[in-house]
Amino acid sequence: MRSFIGRDILSLKDWERAEYFRVFEVADDLAPIARNRRNSDILSGKTLLTAFYQPSTRTRLATEAAMHRLGGHVLGFSDAKMTRAGDFYQESIKDTVHMLEYYGDVIAMRHHLQGAPHEAARWASVPVINCGDGWGEHPTQVLTDMYTIWKEKGRLDGLNFLLVGDMRMRTMHSIGYAMSQFDIEATFISPPEMSMTDEFKKELTDLNLRFREVKTVSEAIADADVIYMEPVVQADYTKARDEVKENKGLTPAAYKVTRDLLRDKAKPDSIILHSLPRMDELPPDVDATRHARYWEEAFNGVVMRMTLLSLILGARE
Ligand code: CP
Repeated sequence: MRSFIGRDILSLKDWERAEYFRVFEVADDLAPIARNRRNSDILSGKTLLTAFYQPSTRTRLATEAAMHRLGGHVLGFSDAKMTRAGDFYQESIKDTVHMLEYYGDVIAMRHHLQGAPHEAARWASVPVINCGDGWGEHPTQVLTDMYTIWKEKGRLDGLNFLLVGDMRMRTMHSIGYAMSQFDIEATFISPPEMSMTDEFKKELTDLNLRFREVKTVSEAIADADVIYMEPVVQADYTKARDEVKENKGLTPAAYKVTRDLLRDKAKPDSIILHSLPRMDELPPDVDATRHARYWEEAFNGVVMRMTLLSLILGARE
């Protein structure tokens, strides 16, 4: 297995099965710190830099919370307009990370451009974590999700995943790669204009993932062990909110998971994950069903970032 020390976390495309299990093992070891709301000194003396060019609630704050739980320092920006990268100068990623690398030991970056963290990693002498790059990938979210499923179901092999939402989303790309490392059967459901690209389908086929596409949640939910949701009514990742003019409307029934549907058709022990934020595809009354696991997923978001920071910075082998 490759060492995690000093490693960039940019994509799950090249992750091997054993690496997932190593990450899960370290996550289990560190989880009690977060569960008991303690801070430790595991990364004392280390500094995390957050460079968020796009809005975020969970990813940035979970990563920062993780560093605090590990006793490290945090600095960064969540609004590039307040930096030289977002003002008149539009400073390049190369020049920006050449600065950031002097201020800390690891850079966590979210960007509206696909490949921006990869570009940062080309120039930074410290590791870069991709916290979501345009329509590209969202590896830390999907590591969180796979860990949550593994904890909740006790396994990944042999599970049937139902994936609902916009298949162009970065989480869908990362989870496609992640599923290919396990004996998972995947069913994808999206509006036709949001379906997987032929290029991505070929990638998944080449990675030996068994998958199919169907038209509605209702026709596939009975087989699902894991229901993995994203909105179909959502922001364009490549644009700021004030650039988006059109009214996005409501989610068609074909792409919603409701209490009634769960009661009538779902496996009793199926679980729902949603990386959030949600729109109306997952009504709030589903929260109080036995299927909901997205709040556990949110908690695990801190644990997974603690794990990755510890491994990358060499506090865990
Ligand atoms: N799940 C997720 O990426 O949420 P944020 O956009 O709030 O970080």
